[in-house]
Amino acid sequence: MFSSYLLPLGILLLSVLSLGHSIDTAAAVDFSLSRRASNIRQELGPKLSKDAVIIDAESGDMAAATKRWQVFASPSFSAVVEVATENDIVETIAYANAHSIPFLAVNAGHGEIKSLANMKDGIQITIRALNKITINEDNTATVQGGATNLEITQELWAAKKQTVSGTCECVGFLGPMLGGGHGWIQGLHGLAADQIIKARVILANGTIVSASTTENPDLFWALRGAGHNFGIVSEVTNKIYDVPDSDEWYFEKYTYTGASVDQLFDQLEKIKRDTPPELQFYSVFLNIPAIDSTQALVFMAMLYNGPASAADKWMAPFRTFNPIDIEKGSTTYPELSALTGNGINDDICQHEPINRIRYPLYLDGMKKGVPKQVYNLYNATTAQYPALNRSLMLFEGLSTQAVRSVQLDTTAVALRKFHTLASPVVTYAPDAALDQVAQDFGRELRNILHRAEGTPEMYAYVNYAVGEEDIESIYGYRGWRVAKLKTLKKHLDPENRFRFYAPIVSS
Ligand SMILES: Cc1cc2nc3c(=O)[nH]c(=O)nc-3n(C[C@H](O)[C@H](O)[C@H](O)COP(=O)(O)OP(=O)(O)OC[C@H]3O[C@@H](n4cnc5c(N)ncnc54)[C@H](O)[C@@H]3O)c2cc1C
Ligand SMILES: *[C@@H]1O[C@H](CO)[C@@H](O)[C@H](O)[C@H]1NC(C)=O
Ligand SMILES: *[C@@H]1O[C@H](CO)[C@@H](O)[C@H](O)[C@H]1NC(C)=O
Ligand SMILES: *[C@@H]1O[C@H](CO)[C@@H](O)[C@H](O)[C@H]1NC(C)=O
Repeated sequence: MFSSYLLPLGILLLSVLSLGHSIDTAAAVDFSLSRRASNIRQELGPKLSKDAVIIDAESGDMAAATKRWQVFASPSFSAVVEVATENDIVETIAYANAHSIPFLAVNAGHGEIKSLANMKDGIQITIRALNKITINEDNTATVQGGATNLEITQELWAAKKQTVSGTCECVGFLGPMLGGGHGWIQGLHGLAADQIIKARVILANGTIVSASTTENPDLFWALRGAGHNFGIVSEVTNKIYDVPDSDEWYFEKYTYTGASVDQLFDQLEKIKRDTPPELQFYSVFLNIPAIDSTQALVFMAMLYNGPASAADKWMAPFRTFNPIDIEKGSTTYPELSALTGNGINDDICQHEPINRIRYPLYLDGMKKGVPKQVYNLYNATTAQYPALNRSLMLFEGLSTQAVRSVQLDTTAVALRKFHTLASPVVTYAPDAALDQVAQDFGRELRNILHRAEGTPEMYAYVNYAVGEEDIESIYGYRGWRVAKLKTLKKHLDPENRFRFYAPIVSS
């Protein structure tokens, strides 16, 4: 297969060389890439464990191996190494470094940020097979870098344990954590990153190190908030918690029309200072033509970690804003993702080749009338451009008590005080003719909220960032934090090999 591929390429190269300068460079690049991919197979292959798999365009299905949650501004790869051991990662990095090939760890493939598109023709190091979870005696769990949220929730639940992990089942467990990591029980226990006790990290030069408060404490600090910039984490040991004896989650889910937006958000604003750590909300503007084909709707889930009797005082007002539907009931922790449309079988977990561009903004509060302006733009634009009608406008209100109680300088997580995480997710089948309209739509939804804040600073969650934000938006406006991250980058990753996901140093 190799030689039959080489031959026509060689002829092509010869023939374009005689055609002129403008195309011969492109053809030469193609030629060297295909050679590079087969070299990777031949040279790196023997160094890997027996279960590792190398895939490239000649030997396998690259489209399947590089499938992502969203495809706008995707990274591109000339080969994929599906590792089976930690040492496979070390060998792959050593090989990539020796040949100056860029590399990127990929787990569940939900990374969205545009900086990923700076990865061109590199090696994708797929770590998904390293997903072992071990529950230790001392209320900790050791979790390999390729585990997912679903896996951690299920494994721990079977042992009557839980920990903070992302709310969507198909997303990786470590990807969110390395940038903070929001989850259902963060109000009680802090962010996912706040649970890390120690980590094993493969640095840019392939060296494996431990990081904890006592070993490589600077790296440990950076991993919790800016981790994607510092290494491939093969394993973390995290705090876990006993599930309370009566773990009930009472919920109510409401569907409203746009007419209820003002009341709904005014009420959220009224209670935001007093909500207990047990209470979470999750609201989405969306189109559901089966219910109403004339206007965008508002979905709202309120989840309370306790019985209906304790939740009632918080939920009662939301029943009075004329919902067109209410669903209520009680469930348990592992069911929360499916309950809010974030389960493994829900649409959100089916990887389609679709653009999903997110423009996040952390909010302290929302001024009167502003959510309605957002609704109006959402409603009007998705009506005007049906191709954008699967877009979503999310407002996530996970409680923050234990998140805020962590001292700001103890981790690289810069943004802890915000109660609401707002984000449009502009969703459409790839169509270059729509890219401008789509991005302007997302930017303006965010801008409406940002302008109303009345501050020039814009706060964006690193794991939702679109990649247009200033570095301070993501890693904090206090100068020392970005300065410290940059200094650590110089020591730990002098060649800036980890530069594709919300880079601290762009090169
Ligand atoms: C549908 C959806 C729901 C989400 N829900 C939440 C949520 O509830 N809470 C939350 O905090 N965030 C959430 N996010 C954002 C999420 O944190 C990021 O998308 C995260 O980067 C996804 O990780 P992944 O493994 O799925 O993606 P990938 O694209 O595989 O990885 C993302 C980045 O993390 C790096 N990375 C992954 N694993 C490792 C590792 N072991 N060591 C070093 N680097 C690694 C990769 O190199 C890449 O740069 C959500 C995103 C989506 C799309
Ligand atoms: C939503 O948009 C549609 C189509 O433009 C419009 O007819 C309707 O009045 C809008 N609804 C609201 C509540 O603004
Ligand atoms: C989007 O628009 C198309 C075309 O008008 C329609 O068929 C589809 O049902 C709409 N989908 C949503 C989610 O509104
Ligand atoms: C790898 O990088 C780390 C951090 O800069 C350094 O301490 C270590 O000595 C390096 N190892 C090798 C083998 O160069």
